[in-house]
Amino acid sequence: MAARRQLIAGNWKMNGLKADAGKLVGDLIQDVGKPGVVGCELLVCPPATLVSTVAGLLSGSAVVLGGQDCHAKASGAHTGDISAAMLRDAGATYAIVGHSERRTDHGESDGQVLAKAQAAQAAGLVAIVCIGETEAQYVAGQTLDVLARQIAGSVPASAKAATTVVAYEPVWAIGTGRTPTNDEIAAAHAHIRKELAKLTGEAAGIRLLYGGSVKPSNAAEILRLPDVDGALVGGASLNAADFAAIARACP
Ligand code: 13P
Repeated sequence: MAARRQLIAGNWKMNGLKADAGKLVGDLIQDVGKPGVVGCELLVCPPATLVSTVAGLLSGSAVVLGGQDCHAKASGAHTGDISAAMLRDAGATYAIVGHSERRTDHGESDGQVLAKAQAAQAAGLVAIVCIGETEAQYVAGQTLDVLARQIAGSVPASAKAATTVVAYEPVWAIGTGRTPTNDEIAAAHAHIRKELAKLTGEAAGIRLLYGGSVKPSNAAEILRLPDVDGALVGGASLNAADFAAIARACP
């Protein structure tokens, strides 16, 4: 098996107008986005309105592009939704599915997230399936059980390294400046890989990202933990210098 290449993914969430994207992507490419500058793979996931614009801006760079969500169906009467094929057509090669903000704001279930992941894969996108416990579940010591349940319910059993990334994002660590301890992150990732192996039969090549308050000051230690194959970055991905510093922290 080839070594897992680390992936540093920026989730811009509902942030950014055209002018912001031009500056952010321009600065990022200048810093770490030219081919061969950093060893990790770099991904940005702008809001849907900017996917096509950012595809143009990234042309010739080493940074790849993703969407933040897709519909489970390929097309049809779903006003306001975006299909995986549309993302692909606009230049994306990845799609985040099942982010906790989608699960909370839009009531997405594990079953719906599974269908979205399958739709992304069917359209030729790599699905980044997000899982993670709430603060109440963390405090109750249920983290590993929650992760096992979410993997069984929302990751396709056909998942392979080439089609699937799993992102562990504790809900209570997102945007809060708080993170689990390094031991807790390592234990969660080892557990995720074990559960993925049960589900898919072969999980050694699937990349596992940690997400939740990753910043330049904690990236190096988190990215060196066993079974951590990169990061899904929210707030710090909106600042080119911070995102570049995280990319440079890859081992
Ligand atoms: P923050 O990096 O802002 O905590 O967000 C993490 C996240 O939700 C990425 O998807």
